[in-house]
Amino acid sequence: MRCKRAWAATAVRCWGTESTLYANAVELGHQGRFGYNSRMTLYDHYAQAYDDSGQIAFSLRMIPYLDQLLQRHPVQGRSMLDLACGTGTVAMSYAQQGWEVYAVDASAGMLDQARRKAKESGLDLSFSQQDMRHFVLPHRVALVTCLYDSLNYMLTEQDLGKAFAQVSGALLPGGLFLGDMNTQVTLEEVWGNNTFFVDREGMSLILRSGYETETRLSTVHIVGFMKRPEGTYERFDEHHTEIAYEADQVQAALHEAGLGVEAAYECFLLSEPDSRSRRVMWVARKPEISQ
Ligand SMILES: C[S@@+](CC[C@H](N)C(=O)[O-])C[C@H]1O[C@@H](n2cnc3c(N)ncnc32)[C@H](O)[C@@H]1O
Repeated sequence: MRCKRAWAATAVRCWGTESTLYANAVELGHQGRFGYNSRMTLYDHYAQAYDDSGQIAFSLRMIPYLDQLLQRHPVQGRSMLDLACGTGTVAMSYAQQGWEVYAVDASAGMLDQARRKAKESGLDLSFSQQDMRHFVLPHRVALVTCLYDSLNYMLTEQDLGKAFAQVSGALLPGGLFLGDMNTQVTLEEVWGNNTFFVDREGMSLILRSGYETETRLSTVHIVGFMKRPEGTYERFDEHHTEIAYEADQVQAALHEAGLGVEAAYECFLLSEPDSRSRRVMWVARKPEISQ
């Protein structure tokens, strides 16, 4: 029942009414102060600024890198899931190449952007608003991607394990998982305790990051001002928290989920990561015959 409804044409409305779906996860910290609906999730406001604020550059760089990875780690078949698809840039590039593409994200706002872009490009993709720890697909796929540190939003090892178990369940035997994660170096040293600004036509963003050594959590407080069509600016606030995992924690969680680690790369390269790596690309495969 849940499966069929999640992928129905009215998927977003359908899931949006299921208040249990986002238990634990991605709700905004501010209730009411700026008139927010408590069902709003992380990224729902930032979604409108996401691509134009420069974040799309990551996906544009990722697309040729994924090609390189697939040459080294081939898959049988051309069906894929882009988990935590965001505004859909990577998913769209696969649809453009003729793959059967499913795209899942928790944020209705991000999915709205993705659907709009896909429609404008005349591409046929299936989007669904679901949590990466609990999603269902109509059928299994040859490739699952989870990109741009979306996995760092799994704030406990238990949640990371749930997400990997879902990935494993979504893959066909022999299927491949590609997912990148921020390391502690990024969260502690690059983001650290800093303030960043983005100031572009129609938008201004202030991002304040804070890292806690004990918990390995980095929280980025975003205050954004988006220009409305009539020329006034609307403010939004979001709080994004990511966690840094050790490589052996990730490896153990993948293994526990029944996925064999084929490689870990310095992201965007084909070399091994080291203790100074900022981002690691994990490559894991579901065995041909599940043990
Ligand atoms: C940094 S964005 C990356 C988006 C996209 N993968 C890209 O490369 O641009 C992180 C994404 O993870 C999604 N996300 C965070 N927690 C999630 C969860 N529990 N389930 C599904 N998606 C989630 C957010 O909504 C957001 O779209």
